Amino acid sequence: MITGSWISQVIVVIWLMNIGKISVIDPLTEEDSGNYTCIITSRGMTSSYTTTLDVLVPPVWKLMPIDLDTVSGDNVVLNCQGSGQPPPIVKWHKTTSQNSDFIPVTTQVQLNGSLVLNEISKEDEGMYRCNISNGIGTPLVKSVIIRVIGTNVDIRSFSDLSNLVIDPLTEEDTGNYTCVVNARGMTTSYTTTLTVLVPPSWSNVPHDTDALNGDPVILNCKGSGTPKPSITWSRTHGENMDFTILSSSNDLNILSNGSLHFNSISKKR
Ligand SMILES: *[C@@H]1O[C@H](CO)[C@@H](O)[C@H](O)[C@H]1NC(C)=O
Ligand SMILES: *[C@@H]1O[C@H](CO)[C@@H](O)[C@H](O)[C@H]1NC(C)=O
Ligand SMILES: *[C@@H]1O[C@H](CO)[C@@H](O)[C@H](O)[C@H]1NC(C)=O
Ligand SMILES: *[C@@H]1O[C@H](CO)[C@@H](O)[C@H](O)[C@H]1NC(C)=O
Ligand SMILES: *[C@@H]1O[C@H](CO)[C@@H](O)[C@H](O)[C@H]1NC(C)=O
Repeated sequence: MITGSWISQVIVVIWLMNIGKISVIDPLTEEDSGNYTCIITSRGMTSSYTTTLDVLVPPVWKLMPIDLDTVSGDNVVLNCQGSGQPPPIVKWHKTTSQNSDFIPVTTQVQLNGSLVLNEISKEDEGMYRCNISNGIGTPLVKSVIIRVIGTNVDIRSFSDLSNLVIDPLTEEDTGNYTCVVNARGMTTSYTTTLTVLVPPSWSNVPHDTDALNGDPVILNCKGSGTPKPSITWSRTHGENMDFTILSSSNDLNILSNGSLHFNSISKKR
């Protein structure tokens, strides 16, 4: 009779050659990974063979990121960790609004998978998605929303009253503010919209332009503000200093971004 045995740090399976039994580790777990050596002894002769068993394990959550409300200037850590075999890779993506695409975030990602946002600012606000994958099973995906309130916001609470004070007020304070009242286990809330009005300011000032007869010409004119400023173009004719308001025609076009576009400029007009 030839007897053989499989030896590893974890298990020893006795294997009887003449019965032709195949050893099965059931259930197989991650700890069963390792080197297995088969030693065969026959008539005083010993021979062995070693093989490696890698047990593949789909990722499972260790640390899941959560939604956070932060104050501008805070140092924020978003944790995202999983285990699995092979060890999973953590990837982060970010989007700033519902209709824009997720873009990869790499610079602030640590070796442990956490995303570190030092001195958080309004630009860091948005939805962050963490994706843990190792090519086995389905990736683990969790999206969280990070909100940033400015340092100009102060909440002053009294026994029967709470005030939200915003000072100084900036355009970024525009938004919906919700006041939540808890009393004897009952919760009620009220939301109000704050729109910060901002007078127009230049973002693109048109400048004097020289052009050749027949050239296409674009004159840019752009401003920002809340509500969005409207743009009108007007011109004077010859010596007459009275301005007439322009509208799109065959020769010129007022583009949706406010720029004035001539297909082909002409001295005569
Ligand atoms: C298995 O053997 C290989 C090759 O000798 C070695 O590199 C590896 O570290 C071993 N694995 C374990 C879990 O002992
Ligand atoms: C990951 O590393 C960062 C930076 O070293 C640290 O701030 C964070 O706490 C770590 N996360 C975990 C879950 O240990
Ligand atoms: C997560 O990452 C894996 C591997 O890169 C990719 O195949 C998968 O599409 C990603 N899932 C999401 C929801 O981004
Ligand atoms: C505020 O709430 C209104 C009504 O629910 C919604 O239309 C608007 O988009 C919200 N504004 C912001 C900045 O979230
Ligand atoms: C406005 O749009 C035109 C055509 O798309 C472009 O050439 C021009 O640079 C734009 N102006 C500004 C200020 O973005």
